[in-house]
Amino acid sequence: MKLTGNTIVVTGGSSGIGKELVERFLALGNKVVTCGRRKERLAQLRARFPDLSVFTCDVSDEAQRKAFAEWVGVSHPAANVLVNNAGVQLVMDFTRPLDLGRVRSEVETNFIAPLHFASLFASILAKKEGAAIVNISSGLAFSPLAFMPVYCATKAAIHSFTLSLRRQMRDLGIMVYEIAPPAVDSELGRERWPKGQSSHGGMPVPEFVAAMLKALEADLPEAAIGQAEGMRAKREGLFEAMNH
Ligand SMILES: NC(=O)c1ccc[n+]([C@@H]2O[C@H](COP(=O)([O-])OP(=O)(O)OC[C@H]3O[C@@H](n4cnc5c(N)ncnc54)[C@H](OP(=O)(O)O)[C@@H]3O)[C@@H](O)[C@H]2O)c1
Repeated sequence: MKLTGNTIVVTGGSSGIGKELVERFLALGNKVVTCGRRKERLAQLRARFPDLSVFTCDVSDEAQRKAFAEWVGVSHPAANVLVNNAGVQLVMDFTRPLDLGRVRSEVETNFIAPLHFASLFASILAKKEGAAIVNISSGLAFSPLAFMPVYCATKAAIHSFTLSLRRQMRDLGIMVYEIAPPAVDSELGRERWPKGQSSHGGMPVPEFVAAMLKALEADLPEAAIGQAEGMRAKREGLFEAMNH
């Protein structure tokens, strides 16, 4: 994938990987559009980067996804790259009564939103030079952690969906990439960390994003970064060791 001269839509740019992607893509000479729920975070980012376009949007809501895609189509018709990055990670205990609302919200954010965006953006991206969709899965797509079962299942679904999407988008000239991150030291799942803890020892966000951009530039359709590479290679064989 060409890393400069694009108009790139990154979902979930208000923190972590998405925020770093926004900054790196801008620095590389791209136009960048991003969205998230936290309006003040997006406003802070825009204050630092006046060329950045931001849109407040909850991607777990169908109407808001449509509104975002429509707005991009009108305001940024040159958009040629979509990065499906926004995601949440919830702990769930299936031995207790289940809160289906939490399940639906995680599945809607991590799985339904990326696939809906792929279809909403297909006509915007189609036949453009350098057209691409980048889906963010996880090493946990291949070797799940049992205390976050739905999260891992959504990422496994993203992996499978990406294989099919790549085939379907071929005739529209849209390249489809999958990036599987390892544990990255972002804000993901931070709400369950002990008070005062600011890192879980994962890969630093800038290091991960540098590796991700290198993989995209090398045009690898699917890249597992850092420890995710071993998880992808060993798959469920790692399950016992990881959940010991
Ligand atoms: N960090 C890791 O260890 C790791 C490993 C593998 C894969 N990943 C994946 O990497 C992606 C980015 O996560 P991250 O690590 O950068 O976590 P993060 O720091 O928590 O960032 C998540 C981003 O997604 C946005 N988001 C979440 N729910 C949203 C919603 N309903 N509507 C709109 N935006 C929403 C958040 O914005 P708002 O809160 O402002 O809405 C935020 O900008 C996710 O898909 C995650 O699953 C992360």
